[in-house]
Amino acid sequence: MNNFSSACAKTILFGEHAVVYGEPAVAIPLHQIRTTARLSHNSFEFRIISSKTGLNKTYYELNSAGGLYQLLKILCDVFSFPDLPADTLEITSEIPIASGLGSGAALSIAIIREFCRFYNKFLSEEDINRIAFEIEKIYHGNPSGIDNTTITYEQPVIFSKTSGFSKLSADISSLNLLVVNSGIRSKTIDVVTDVKKNIDKNMPFIKRIGSVSNLAVQALISGDIPKIGELMNENQVLLKNIDVSCKELDEMLEFGRNQGAIGAKLTGAGRGGNFLLLARDHLHALKLKELFESQGLRVIL
Ligand code: PMV
Repeated sequence: MNNFSSACAKTILFGEHAVVYGEPAVAIPLHQIRTTARLSHNSFEFRIISSKTGLNKTYYELNSAGGLYQLLKILCDVFSFPDLPADTLEITSEIPIASGLGSGAALSIAIIREFCRFYNKFLSEEDINRIAFEIEKIYHGNPSGIDNTTITYEQPVIFSKTSGFSKLSADISSLNLLVVNSGIRSKTIDVVTDVKKNIDKNMPFIKRIGSVSNLAVQALISGDIPKIGELMNENQVLLKNIDVSCKELDEMLEFGRNQGAIGAKLTGAGRGGNFLLLARDHLHALKLKELFESQGLRVIL
């Protein structure tokens, strides 16, 4: 058995932003990139460390309004700890932060799972999801819950704020999908706030994004690749209309389409972060991967 716990990244295929306003969205887990948490006893005090980010703090040195502090506080309650035990919590993450892949939710979920493993306590997935959602509110302000849900259950989901989530019964592995990191960081909370500022103007586009998600569910279930690509492109136009794309993303998406990608759209909050390309077949996906990597971009296939 592992002596650590982990949580994966996620990517939204359809419906980001609109999902905040009750429209459906589709997201899938990215099992291959993960955040890992590992607890070990020390004889001194609780300490959280991450060599990658340089984090090395006791519980009381963390920002008390921040997500990590609040998560550890909740875990103290859940585990009935009067104070955090003298443990070292070591974090390592392959998920880029502020890039639309759910790094915040993955961090929370990896930590919750690790406390459960280390202290031999069972929490249901529902409980884990609920705690992670509380912390998402600190990171994102007004989260839909799609990130924590996709990452907790680690399965493709159709998610809506009003009807919750259901498993998407589609063969996602048959999609030749590339997730490309634009290298531009963007804070979800800022983009979500801007969409809200112009909500009257944005609402018709948001409604249409919801319809695109519904059509996409059908296309995904029936494995209609050309239709999936077409809907990705339409979703991107709508995201541009609500002003969550940016010049650099538009150019990279255009380049991808010129290289034969059937569908291309941003994923997550936008204004940077990651984007998706749907390739014709596996060989084409490898070619696209090579092309983007030769420009110094990180590609997940
Ligand atoms: O950028 P991410 O990975 O945090 O995804 C955010 C998705 C939004 O729809 C923009 C916000 C939300 O809470 O659903």
